[in-house]
Amino acid sequence: MNEKIEKIRQYAQHLRAEIELHNYRYYALDNPTIPDADYDKLLRELQHIEQDYPQLITADSPTQRVGAAPLKAFSQIVHRMPMLSLSNAFEAVDVEAFDRRVCEGLSVDNVEYAVEPKFDGLAVSLCYEDGIFKTGATRGDGYTGENITLNLRTIRSIPLLLPVWNPPPLLEVRGEVLMLKADFLALNQRQSAKGEKEFANPRNAAAGSLRQLDPGITAARRLTFFAYGVGDYQDGDMPLEKHSQVMAYLAALHFPIAKECGVVKGAQELLAYYQAIEVQRTRMPYDIDGVVYKVNSLAQQERLGFVSRAPRFALAHKFPAQEAITQLLGIDIQVGRTGALTPVARLKPVFVGGVTVTNATLHNADEIERKDVRIGDSVIVRRAGDVIPEIVSVILEKRPPDVRVFVMPEHCPVCGAKAVRLVDETVSRCTGGLFCPAQRKQAILHFASRRAMDIEGLGDKLVEQMIDQRIARTPADLYKLGLSALANLERMAEKSAGNILRAIEKSKQTTLARFIYALGIRNVGEATAKDLAAHFGSLDRLIEAGSERLQQIPDIGPVVAQSIADFFAEAHNCEVIEQLRACGVHWNEHEGISALAGNTKPLQGKTFVLTGTLPAMSREEAKEKIELLGGKVSGSVSRKTDYVVAGADPGSKYDKAVNLGITILDETGLLALLQ
Ligand code: IVH
Repeated sequence: MNEKIEKIRQYAQHLRAEIELHNYRYYALDNPTIPDADYDKLLRELQHIEQDYPQLITADSPTQRVGAAPLKAFSQIVHRMPMLSLSNAFEAVDVEAFDRRVCEGLSVDNVEYAVEPKFDGLAVSLCYEDGIFKTGATRGDGYTGENITLNLRTIRSIPLLLPVWNPPPLLEVRGEVLMLKADFLALNQRQSAKGEKEFANPRNAAAGSLRQLDPGITAARRLTFFAYGVGDYQDGDMPLEKHSQVMAYLAALHFPIAKECGVVKGAQELLAYYQAIEVQRTRMPYDIDGVVYKVNSLAQQERLGFVSRAPRFALAHKFPAQEAITQLLGIDIQVGRTGALTPVARLKPVFVGGVTVTNATLHNADEIERKDVRIGDSVIVRRAGDVIPEIVSVILEKRPPDVRVFVMPEHCPVCGAKAVRLVDETVSRCTGGLFCPAQRKQAILHFASRRAMDIEGLGDKLVEQMIDQRIARTPADLYKLGLSALANLERMAEKSAGNILRAIEKSKQTTLARFIYALGIRNVGEATAKDLAAHFGSLDRLIEAGSERLQQIPDIGPVVAQSIADFFAEAHNCEVIEQLRACGVHWNEHEGISALAGNTKPLQGKTFVLTGTLPAMSREEAKEKIELLGGKVSGSVSRKTDYVVAGADPGSKYDKAVNLGITILDETGLLALLQ
């Protein structure tokens, strides 16, 4: 290898170690030390080097987590040791009985237990040979699982290489794959923006993402892994006395383990742990469905052994089911911002998972038919995590003779306009558009919401009164409100009216991304709005772009593009936009989504060099964008260069940049920076 390549190889190795360290800090320690954008930059830099010097790619490179081709089917893996299940307990007496059985079995008075949360995800087994991640499998029937190695490799919290010089020849790590609550919410937001099905809860989302034949889909879903134990192993330096030591060893190998792991003694301390975790539960970043108690001494575990398919030395103490039975009193129709008519179940109040539930979503008419839900039925209601309660099923044996079948109305219950159901759609929609008071109300609430125009204090009740008393019909009317009109509304003192007017005034200064999002265009969520703002830089250019140009933007498909084009083709919408601008709503055009308030030249003092052909922008366009934000574009690379933007077939400028250790960006990286 010549000297130059050796230098690049070393640099690539350095980048790999740094990226994996950031993965560990982010996932295992929950303590990232760099922003996501910087992490992406490191990864892109490594990708570029490996693209140019494919001979330098290594199997454990973080770039190799993604990019494997889709499979036709999963192969089977026979577990080296069976993956068993845990006995369950729901009541304190069951826990006390468990502790008594353990003590008797061991002929001791008091036993030490390792305690940990019970993850609500999917069990997997990961096999490491000489410290290298080789295969990973689902639990399957406990004896044979599916080979999901390629999908597991995309999970950044799973080390591809164990960070020790003396790894055991064989180590099978067991744990759970799950989706963090925050990642689940973001995924559903993206799904809804794309007009695709949302997932019911993080567990379903994780399961759906893990069992994909195309690892590319899994990679896009952000899954997380937590280790809870070891299956098979050979030799090595693993401490072998206590489960808590095994967990500490796994943490040292950079596997994420639950922060809430602990060691306690006796049944009373087990129960105290259960109660403490139950309180913390909603604040934890992922869903759990109980806690797990394990006899801490591995020698004692062995002495206790197994009964049928569960160990005698461990117990899952589950939280009470978040389900309850109640009666369906009626079905109301709610009209959403886009006119969607959603049937909502009115329930006889019932206490489920810590709160009283009176409403549950029924999604749509198909769902009601599929579940055969009738008014008057006894139904099972479930609360999962923070999502809206839903009706799981009907208890047919309890069906009274006088139940009523629900029929989806043919007209909007609020404005009386015809409701239509398009082919390919599961929902009926009110055709009243912004003439429908319900849609107007939702449109204004969305416009004013925190992530849109952020008008503090403009809540549900207030907007309802404004619509009913016709003091506001569209979002533009908010900017024409006077103190007296507001102060006359119910429960509205002059002082709070003044506060709201000030909040409205303040919202006039906004960003293009927020404004686009606030318009409430169907299928345009926050992320899409940001993409649109970054891409077009000006509202007029967005309005003029037809469906075809819109589809050229990454992540914007035909459905979203059509929604946007339809929105701006509607004269009424353009009129409202004009009024909003006339009332003084403004943003910095060309600023894209720059969050750098007050600093419109964030690239001041930065020097860029462009090389190669960029996929979507001409070099001229790139130059213009950089200069607009205060950056300078130069023709040659030197130590003073801050960034080299490289497209396809870059020239010697690229190599020079690598040698000088200058940050190299591709077009996406540049766009991210411009944002
Ligand atoms: S230990 C011998 N610890 O619960 C069984 N399991 O019924 C050893 N689970 O599907 C399992 N969190 O994936 C263990 N902290 C934890 C766990 C845990 C969740 C799951 C596991 C399995 C099921 C066992």
